[in-house]
Amino acid sequence: MTDRHVPTCVASTDGTPNIGPQCAPKSAGEKTNNSRFATRAFHKLLAHPLVFDVKQRLAAANYRTMRQAFSVCLAFEDCRGLRILDVGCGTGLCISRLFSTEHNFVVGVDLNVAYIQWAKKRYPEICFVAASADQLPFAGQLFDLVLLSSVLHHLPDPVSRDLFDNLRRTAASGATVLLSEPVWSDNRLSNCLLRWDRGPYVKTREEWLELVSGHFLIKKDFVYRYAKTEFLGLVLAFRQSN
Ligand SMILES: C[S@@+](CC[C@H](N)C(=O)[O-])C[C@H]1O[C@@H](n2cnc3c(N)ncnc32)[C@H](O)[C@@H]1O
Repeated sequence: MTDRHVPTCVASTDGTPNIGPQCAPKSAGEKTNNSRFATRAFHKLLAHPLVFDVKQRLAAANYRTMRQAFSVCLAFEDCRGLRILDVGCGTGLCISRLFSTEHNFVVGVDLNVAYIQWAKKRYPEICFVAASADQLPFAGQLFDLVLLSSVLHHLPDPVSRDLFDNLRRTAASGATVLLSEPVWSDNRLSNCLLRWDRGPYVKTREEWLELVSGHFLIKKDFVYRYAKTEFLGLVLAFRQSN
């Protein structure tokens, strides 16, 4: 995954993106290598479920902010008896903070097998499955609500499109999709923090809208902020296929 798309991005000779003048290293070479090494080491650490879970918990206020942002169109506390699919569920913290896992039937899917094993132990009431987002192992119109929280920026666009097609087959007609993704913005600090993210496909708000608009009707579209990072929140419905 090397084709990270960034605004004002100038690809360096080795394919590593530089984000605009505000984030570009002062001197190329050593500093670039150091920061690349540090980024890789950070990402390697995050692949461990304990490290990832602790990091997510330290930033758990993000889920309150997210819930608040989406509450303009969804009364989370009233959600009962829904069949919910969380794609890219990590260690399960996000879904457990947004919805009652007691009063809804919740399924979480993640590519990282270690995260899934961890999540199964922590949330025995949730059904967790290790699978890739574009190869969901479900058939039939099973879900009323799908959560895509900070997972799409880990996926190349063709994989996201496969996921959308897959979701259409998996979700009930009339199902709602909640999408939250970080966006490149005018905020320099936000953009610099996003360079550290493991997901190389962060986009601008307009690029996210373009990616989803062929597959979904956009019912709500808003930007919210957590700890300097800007997120796009979308409430989506499936387009009727012809
Ligand atoms: C930034 S984390 C988001 C976790 C959680 N959704 C949240 O909002 O806290 C991205 C998650 O997507 C998962 N992921 C990345 N690529 C994936 C893929 N192809 N299929 C399923 N999950 C994937 C990662 O393992 C990671 O758990």
